[in-house]
Amino acid sequence: MSTAVESRTIDTLLLEERRYPPPAEFAAEANAKPDIYSRSFEEFWETEGRERVTWFEPFTELLEWELPYAKWYLGGKLNVCFNCVDRHVAAGNGDKIAYYWEGEPEDDRREITFADLQREVVRFANALTKLGVRKGTPVAIYMGMVPELPVAMLACTRLGAPHTVVFGGFSAESLSGRMNDMGCQLLITQDEGWRAGKPVPLKRNADEALASSPSVKQMIVLRRTGGDVSMQEGRDRWWHDVVEGEPDDPESCPCEPMESEDLLYLLYTSGTTAKPKGIVHTTAGYLVGVATTHHYIFDVKPDSIYWCAADIGWVTGHSYIVYGPLCNGTTGIIYEGVPNYPDPERWWEIVERYKVDILYTAPTAIRSHMKWGPEFASRHDLSSLRLLGTVGEPINPEAWVWYRDHIGGDRTPVVDTWWQTETGMILITPLPGVTTLKPGSATKPFPGVAAAVVDDQGNEVGPGAGGYLVLKRPWPAMLRGIYKDDERYRETYWSRFDDVYFAGDGARVDEDGDFWLLGRVDDVMNVSGHRISTIEVESALVDHSEVAEAAVCGRSDERTGQAIVAYVSLKGGREGSIAKLEELRNHVGKKIGPIAKPANIVFTPELPKTRSGKIMRRLLRDVAENRTLGDTTTLADPAVVDEIKQRAATGQTEE
Ligand code: WTA
Repeated sequence: MSTAVESRTIDTLLLEERRYPPPAEFAAEANAKPDIYSRSFEEFWETEGRERVTWFEPFTELLEWELPYAKWYLGGKLNVCFNCVDRHVAAGNGDKIAYYWEGEPEDDRREITFADLQREVVRFANALTKLGVRKGTPVAIYMGMVPELPVAMLACTRLGAPHTVVFGGFSAESLSGRMNDMGCQLLITQDEGWRAGKPVPLKRNADEALASSPSVKQMIVLRRTGGDVSMQEGRDRWWHDVVEGEPDDPESCPCEPMESEDLLYLLYTSGTTAKPKGIVHTTAGYLVGVATTHHYIFDVKPDSIYWCAADIGWVTGHSYIVYGPLCNGTTGIIYEGVPNYPDPERWWEIVERYKVDILYTAPTAIRSHMKWGPEFASRHDLSSLRLLGTVGEPINPEAWVWYRDHIGGDRTPVVDTWWQTETGMILITPLPGVTTLKPGSATKPFPGVAAAVVDDQGNEVGPGAGGYLVLKRPWPAMLRGIYKDDERYRETYWSRFDDVYFAGDGARVDEDGDFWLLGRVDDVMNVSGHRISTIEVESALVDHSEVAEAAVCGRSDERTGQAIVAYVSLKGGREGSIAKLEELRNHVGKKIGPIAKPANIVFTPELPKTRSGKIMRRLLRDVAENRTLGDTTTLADPAVVDEIKQRAATGQTEE
């Protein structure tokens, strides 16, 4: 089943042969039909631009492309909040649920209709206006997954005030760095958040951040847990106080007409240096891009109950919990807490309670559920599910198949969607009524998107060969740069190859034109001159019935250049053994070939992950090389690395 394909760039070794054509009934009703791929780039984005969004003034020019900066839908005027809220109420859909909200403490629930959302947004926007927020005023938002988070974002867009949402798991230092970079004037936060049954001290972190963020003069604090917080006179105000007495009729606070290219938000993402990059997203192209992809890829119907289980603090939440779904008038779910609070049944209770038909999550969450076991899902009626999606990392074929079998009842399509904070919208993805799915492949570029895989010289590689993923043409939701850093923008994305966007990911394209993502190119290992991607070895390991999760990296080796080190956690929290180690090495040998056998395997209950759930292979490399650890500030749980270090040092493999 495995053959090595020669290439100068990245070797691909793992072949996955399972195929899942779209079910006939799904295809017949699908939003996207096969002819979508024959639409021209211009016609596609022109038409979608006119139809998905309501314009105050129509655009006159589709695209102006002066590499590396794009401008879309020029001459148009629109407002994001109007599109996400007001127009649905005006169309008579005010009673439709916009969000079912479920707090982490059980029985803490709210239903918010589009009319409710409009009233809350208008009141809050009026309050912001009183505090001096105007078109162009930069606002920071540091909250947990409460309904007031989208309310705050929408109120900003209503006024034309650009926002930066800082994920509630970030520290005071990360928060202040971002606010300083953007020059924020006001911060919206809450007393505390709930996470795994414990309060997260958001206000306290915000206080600490403000000590080194002199531009921020005011803070609005939502009362969520009722925990004790200190309020600074003259600077801090309670949310419920500022909205008190504010009118909630839309005429009291009209939606600001914005130019297509006006700044919508910044979202900071880490790079190779310690300073995060402020990724710039603007108004029209972003909105059209997220609404269009949301409609076709998730096959959203008017009565859909759609659940994107990401955090709004990441781009996935911005694009596919807030802006895309609301623009499309979709009913969504917002869940405040962690998947296993109070136990691993929580998600499946939610799916059953609300009859969710579309679920979108990350491979890391799927692998956690695999580790806990399928019995938690099997106790619930998940038959409402029609479509599953993943994003954030390459998904191991075993995890993909587990997701489809145990969650999707071996019935639902699974869309593996590739994109980035920088791309704003999904770019490589199946269309569920059209595409024959292959576990582990994100399949095809979305209509109107031009993706390719190139070698070190920038030449497109043939079918089966691995290389670097690039984008050859602009797309509406693409980043408009790094905030106030033109040089870093050009250097990071546009200097590796001429005239194309360099995504930083490895990929290969197979004979059918399907894309297989191979992970970040910085993670590629070189063993005896073979460049092997981490995801393939990890997937071979996860293919073993007892493995829940695996991460691999290279360490230097005198003989082979690099040797592969694997970190493995077994299902059900089991410990490893010498025998298991040999068994796993042989399993990889059989799946991929002897070249990919890990030189050693460290068994560990947890893998080091970022707060968004991505495995941090860089730190595993430091452990494998016995070096001092690099930057660990983005780690979700620093204790995990210490444990792994100890296990690696003591050669922990015994029963
Ligand atoms: C990775 C998340 C493989 C990739 C929306 C990308 C993926 C980075 C996939 C962006 C996927 C995301 N298959 N890899 N389906 N989706 N990635 O900015 O390495 O948090 O460059 O955006 O995640 O992560 P970000």
